[in-house]
Amino acid sequence: MHRPPKSVQRRLSLLLVSVASLTLGACSDADRGHVLAPDGVTSATTRTGARDGDLDGALRAYLTTLGFTGRVASTLETRLGRRVDRQLADLGRELWFDPIQGLNDDNTCAGCHSPTNGFGDTQPIAIGIDNNGVVGPGRTGPRNQRRSPMVINTAFYPTLMWNSRFHASSGDPFDNRQGFVFPAPEGTSLSYLPHLLTAQAFIPPTERVEAAGFHVPGGNDDLRRAVVRRLNESSEYRQRFARSFPHVKRGAPIAFDDVARAIAEFELTLVFADAPIDRYARGHENALSRREKAGAVLFFGRAGCVTCHAVSGASSEMFSDFRQHVAGIPQIAPSLGNVTFDGPGLNEDFGLEQVTGSPADRYAFRTSPLRNVALQPAFMHNGAFTRLEDAIRYHLDAVSGAASFTPDRLPVDLRGPLGPLQPVLDRLDALLRTPVTLTADEIESLIAFVRDGLLDPDARPERLQRLIPEKLPSGRPGLVFQR
Ligand code: HEC
Ligand code: HEC
Repeated sequence: MHRPPKSVQRRLSLLLVSVASLTLGACSDADRGHVLAPDGVTSATTRTGARDGDLDGALRAYLTTLGFTGRVASTLETRLGRRVDRQLADLGRELWFDPIQGLNDDNTCAGCHSPTNGFGDTQPIAIGIDNNGVVGPGRTGPRNQRRSPMVINTAFYPTLMWNSRFHASSGDPFDNRQGFVFPAPEGTSLSYLPHLLTAQAFIPPTERVEAAGFHVPGGNDDLRRAVVRRLNESSEYRQRFARSFPHVKRGAPIAFDDVARAIAEFELTLVFADAPIDRYARGHENALSRREKAGAVLFFGRAGCVTCHAVSGASSEMFSDFRQHVAGIPQIAPSLGNVTFDGPGLNEDFGLEQVTGSPADRYAFRTSPLRNVALQPAFMHNGAFTRLEDAIRYHLDAVSGAASFTPDRLPVDLRGPLGPLQPVLDRLDALLRTPVTLTADEIESLIAFVRDGLLDPDARPERLQRLIPEKLPSGRPGLVFQR
């Protein structure tokens, strides 16, 4: 399924050698200023006698070869072909936080996609219906199967979900001309919608374990009808939809399309792709610390991360190839859950196989887009790691990491017994099979780059929490966010 683009890597290393030798000794004022910066780090490169100019030369060469511009955020409206509609987005924001759209009356998008964590999960594995009304470390209730990814920047994702089961056939979420593909019963029926996120917004309110519950009978369309019935009964919502939709203003009912368009519009406002690496790519030499630069050079070079965490072409600089690979992650199975897991012991997650039906795709999950990953409280598809450094160290050498993995830091109901790990390791992606040998200092640099170099400061919880409405249009009490 995946052919590792080895040639790219080789081309990059050749280029790196030539550029590094060209820039030897070329140390600009900006470089020197940064050498003196009191960040208290000694990079591996410095210890081996190389200069800052080498780092910059090497990093610039990689970014140029990869075509990384640091300007992806500014392409949104061009690709959309119009301006983002702030009024519609604001309606989407209210819906996002309002349990009126959760037919079980206790959940909504924000229960799993929280502004405290980049509009991603506050838990290692999502808790949907029958929760305790809390969003944060204190959330309790039966678990679903996977961690909710951060929704920020999903405007640019050509495939959605851990097993990419929703995707744009064109490879471009802004282009519906070749169809948007969903599993049955939706299939390609949502392809008339303008953006992959608009189509995706049709799904969560129909997920019984996430938000809908089991009280309302029928299929997905019945559940959507039940959601819009509630909205049509609310004069506050009717007024709000009337502002954006002429048919509602004329007296026609709110349709589910309108709901999906509002939610997707809100998601389009959640673009946070102005990280230090972007500013660096746009010419701000000091946007990255020396340690982050050293980490970036490893990421784009010898450590091979960019082969999967891609930044070129269809990846829209999101640090993912949007394909699936087996990364050898331990299988976490909740002791209290409401989703039936895979495998003979019902304690496994078959990942991509659930979509393709092919055992060859077992345990494969989408390469995580890495922007803003530091905002997550847990890592990998099942939150097996609660510290970024643990996730990266394991990922560098899954086979030896597996021997010492412990779920001790996870919430009690996730501490085991674990699902089998050997069959996962047996299928480990070829690229991850040969561990990358890095010194302790190099690992620190790599972690620093992934944690800080990819973080857009505007996505921090202090900023995003301002989006929580003070009062919900439905008049319902909202979820309680632990801050
Ligand atoms: C019960 C928790 C829960 C609720 C409620 C929920 N989601 Fe999610 N969401 C998830 C999980 C878990 C995934 C990943 C599932 C998978 O890959 O199998 C996900 C994935 C997504 C993705 C794809 C992200 C990516 O990186 O591919 C989007 C977009 C999204 N959800 C939007 C929404 C919207 C909009 C709502 C409300 C209408 C919502 N979600 C409600 C848990 C939830
Ligand atoms: C073979 C492709 C591949 C390579 C090479 C690779 N990764 Fe990954 N990475 C993945 C996949 C797939 C996942 C998600 C695995 C899962 O959750 O099951 C992932 C997840 C991650 C995560 C967790 C993100 C999250 O959403 O929790 C981090 C951090 C990460 N990778 C960093 C790196 C770094 C740093 C390197 C280079 C040393 C690297 N990766 C190399 C495929 C790869």
